[in-house]
Amino acid sequence: MRFFSLDARLSLCAEFVRSGSRIADIGTDHAYLPVHLILSGKIPSAIAADIGAEPLKSGTETVVRYELQDKISLRLSDGLQGIFPEEVDDIVIAGMGGETIIGILERAPWIHDRRLRLILQPMTKAHLVVEFLCKEGFEITMQKACETGDKVYTVIAASYTETAHTPQEIFTYMGRLNPTSEPADRKYLEGQIRMLKKQGMGDSRYTLLADQITERLENL
Ligand SMILES: C[S@@+](CC[C@H](N)C(=O)[O-])C[C@H]1O[C@@H](n2cnc3c(N)ncnc32)[C@H](O)[C@@H]1O
Repeated sequence: MRFFSLDARLSLCAEFVRSGSRIADIGTDHAYLPVHLILSGKIPSAIAADIGAEPLKSGTETVVRYELQDKISLRLSDGLQGIFPEEVDDIVIAGMGGETIIGILERAPWIHDRRLRLILQPMTKAHLVVEFLCKEGFEITMQKACETGDKVYTVIAASYTETAHTPQEIFTYMGRLNPTSEPADRKYLEGQIRMLKKQGMGDSRYTLLADQITERLENL
């Protein structure tokens, strides 16, 4: 069956989903990610959840168009509140601000489970998400960046390990990105440096951090 392709941002989220896993796509909106993952044969089923009735209607339309009503459960849910732990293996939260993503995770203590994989794509403040995950005992297992149009995004995969720690600030920005071999990762970090330099105009701590990341990039 011919179907739509995902943009680079959602493709990267899809790449981090484990084959055969049951996903919960939180803030699904159009439901492109779960529909694509099922049509491509990567996953058997999914929960597509959204806090808004309108986005969920749009998601329902996509699910019905591809006749996947028996494989995708559509739910009106604030974050993970309407999801039962035993229903999912991988949790995707994409296209929201970093602080919103943290809020959703904070309100679902059951995510502290080695069995689960979190796949997070913050539109802003990814460093806060990395910091939160480390402090909550998660390991950042994978991180990559991708370009869509003139924007560069990052996607983070994390698993619970029980070992909580406060990460070094530079790690919260560089995470598991691989700027030596991945041009998009380098571009993403260059964007972070520009942002930190702007913030540095009001606070020299950010300039220092920007300089540290620049030095790392130059010495890799
Ligand atoms: C910009 S869309 C992202 C859609 C899709 N995940 C993507 O990345 O393309 C953000 C969606 O998140 C939903 N959302 C925001 N806060 C939410 C929450 N607390 N729980 C569930 N969905 C939420 C919004 O209603 C909206 O549909």
